[in-house]
Amino acid sequence: MESHPHTLDTPASGGTVSYGRVAQEGLDVSHGVILYLEDICVDFDGFKALNNLTLDIGVGELRCIIGPNGAGKTTMMDVITGKTSPKSGQVFFGQTLDLSTMTEAEIAHSGIGRKFQRPTVFEHHTIFENLELALKVNKAVWPTLFARLTGQQRDKIYVTLELLKLEKLYKRQAGLLSHGQKQWLEIGMLLMQDPKLLLLDEPVAGMTDAETERTAELFNSLRGKHSLVVVEHDMDFVESIALDGKVTVLCEGSVLAEGKMQTVQNDPRVIEVYLGR
Ligand SMILES: Nc1ncnc2c1ncn2[C@@H]1O[C@H](COP(=O)(O)OP(=O)(O)OP(=O)(O)O)[C@@H](O)[C@H]1O
Ligand SMILES: [Mg+2]
Repeated sequence: MESHPHTLDTPASGGTVSYGRVAQEGLDVSHGVILYLEDICVDFDGFKALNNLTLDIGVGELRCIIGPNGAGKTTMMDVITGKTSPKSGQVFFGQTLDLSTMTEAEIAHSGIGRKFQRPTVFEHHTIFENLELALKVNKAVWPTLFARLTGQQRDKIYVTLELLKLEKLYKRQAGLLSHGQKQWLEIGMLLMQDPKLLLLDEPVAGMTDAETERTAELFNSLRGKHSLVVVEHDMDFVESIALDGKVTVLCEGSVLAEGKMQTVQNDPRVIEVYLGR
């Protein structure tokens, strides 16, 4: 094939850097921050699911979020994606997009992709068709919905297939895939829409050890090209993707600790509420 996979990620304008093209289009990330939460409170009938949660995610960062059941991790994702409205606090996407004023659909269109725990792929379609459908869900390509794929669109699907290591199976019906393969396919479907930020809630739950390792490899290959927030309970997995990056520990709706994996793992407060149990 003539076109090299990386051509797709090269900024057309020859701009300086490099977080891939992902975080560059239409979002003001001039301060290097892609997501900013400040003093978020979510109240469910008097119960504080999020309690003055403040955190920020850097452009191109792979942030792991850990913490005990009920800490508010999923609720945090619900707030970011507009599913839950906070009682108070601010949520900013880049410098200027105030997510609290936007609907769920607007937030999704602005470039935030979310992976829920259960895989949701089109079971009766092939892997290739699933990626094709995901590509065409993007409003920008609606005019081509019934048209044949352009060469560029086809390249993009191939690049994603290779990234997922599913290229040999591209004709396989999604319903016949293993749990892990379905999860990878769904991540690929999210990637087809060029998300600027990807939120993944317990992506390796239910996976075999081999699938979990492969997922770590996949996430490590997305590092720097995409901004990712990954919530997980599997500490071996977290260790294998956190590397030198920041890990945030949530507890009772706010940040209990934040730092390198090794630091938070040795933090007595974290051991007490989570890791030591
Ligand atoms: N819609 C809701 N109504 C009432 N309470 C809720 C609602 N959603 C979540 N909660 C409560 O808010 C708290 C935080 O829940 P959340 O699902 O965010 O935790 P989590 O950190 O994702 O936990 P887990 O690791 O088990 O997934 C929990 O006590 C939960 O029962
Ligand atoms: Mg959860």
